[in-house]
Amino acid sequence: MEKIIDENTQGNTLTLEARPDNSRKLYIESYGCAMNFSDSEIVASILADQGYNTTNVLEEADLVLVNTCSIRDKAEQTVRKRLEKYNAVKRINPKMKVGVLGCMAERLKEKFLEEEKIVDLVVGPDAYKDIPNLLKEVEEGRDAVNVILSKEETYGDISPVRLGGNGITAYVSITRGCDNMCTFCVVPFTRGRERSRDPQSILNEINDLAEKGYKEITLLGQNVDSYLWYGGGLKKDFKNASEMQQATATDFAQLLNMAATAHPKMRIRFSTSNPQDMHEEVLHIVAKHDNICNHIHLPVQSGSTRILKEMNRQHTREEYMKLIDRIWEIIPDCSISQDMIIGFPTETEDDHQETLSLMEYVKYSFGYMYKYSERPGTMAARKFEDDIPEETKSRRLTEIVDLQQKHSALRTASFLGKTVTVLIEKESKKNKEEWSGRTEHNNVAVFPKSTYKAGDFVKVKITDCTTATLIGKAVGYSENN
Ligand code: SAH
Ligand code: F3S
Repeated sequence: MEKIIDENTQGNTLTLEARPDNSRKLYIESYGCAMNFSDSEIVASILADQGYNTTNVLEEADLVLVNTCSIRDKAEQTVRKRLEKYNAVKRINPKMKVGVLGCMAERLKEKFLEEEKIVDLVVGPDAYKDIPNLLKEVEEGRDAVNVILSKEETYGDISPVRLGGNGITAYVSITRGCDNMCTFCVVPFTRGRERSRDPQSILNEINDLAEKGYKEITLLGQNVDSYLWYGGGLKKDFKNASEMQQATATDFAQLLNMAATAHPKMRIRFSTSNPQDMHEEVLHIVAKHDNICNHIHLPVQSGSTRILKEMNRQHTREEYMKLIDRIWEIIPDCSISQDMIIGFPTETEDDHQETLSLMEYVKYSFGYMYKYSERPGTMAARKFEDDIPEETKSRRLTEIVDLQQKHSALRTASFLGKTVTVLIEKESKKNKEEWSGRTEHNNVAVFPKSTYKAGDFVKVKITDCTTATLIGKAVGYSENN
């Protein structure tokens, strides 16, 4: 599939089924990572109880919310541009209120209100339950800000409304925040400490999705491998705290096992894995269950051990390569994808060559590649000057993207002549007569519709391909149905 070289600058507006009693209109737009899209579903759910139905017509909104991303400067600039657009609409409809959610809200806090006069409401990622109170403040003519980060909030008790989706695939968030402190990354500052959600509430959400006919879920976290939940037992049942922890802790491998066992027909994906925290047990669970997709998104960021150290990634190039070997020993056909940062401060030509040679070693199925963007307040920003010239960054990025294209083409072509299982998600954009779906390895596949329908698992014989898309013909239903 065609993979993104830079952030999601499209933005997605989200709408859900209208509740007849609701009279106010919410326009909610999301930028950045899957977690933001998932959070917007939580926010829409909270606001549905406050009388808001969603709309995708900006001009008719009473409340406009933008869920923002701070990961790179460009992501922030995109949001600023959207605020200009909202401003133009607000001139026509002065009663319209505008709120900023997510990572930019958390990073800039009250400053947002000074910098962007149009903003009435600033809400950080852990404060969404406070939105009803904040809206009251706004209605009474006050600006409202809540950017308090929490050590507990997981929104496990809120049943997200599924917005703008296809009714077939859904995200289920399992952890929030991140404790890893990669030196380039703003997430630990904007999303706070890592916390895991009660497995029971995760399983309930998956049950609910299964009942509604969903066919695929993606378990979401900044670092899914460090999922860990203590609890579930009563203190009096155990001799001491450590016995209780051992008896009741649930780690990611166990969670995955529970979800896959409870729903053998549900396709399960997970993202994102972090090399330093990935346990071998997880690989065995993936290998054991047919319904867990054989695809691991395993960001590496750089192929140079020296740069990895400066990034505070807790592994060397060699350790990462060993992990890759182990993945293929346990899950031989596993597809692996990457995130890469080009031009981290002090990156030399040799470091860059090491990244290219690591890519040659793995031959990733696809990847997301970015130029380093200095984020205020991060360790890298404090320690280093952003010293790689823009033209060098651009050149190195092109080299890395070109190599990835080559590997993607190779990986995609390896399916030629094979029959793969595809979950139909939607009509192909290019051809109304064709379905588009994904294989377990996360390749997009297109094929003539015939009598199949969206949500079906179909066996598709692959006859042709582009760099990123498989092209084929359905040869029957898969036993997954
Ligand atoms: N663990 C997270 C990573 C979030 S950030 C996850 O769930 O995906 C996504 C990617 O953005 C990172 O893997 C990294 O490649 C990139 N990124 C993060 N900070 C960056 C920065 N300052 N400049 C450029 N790219 C960055
Ligand atoms: Fe960021 Fe590293 Fe966590 S990239 S989200 S600090 S794993």
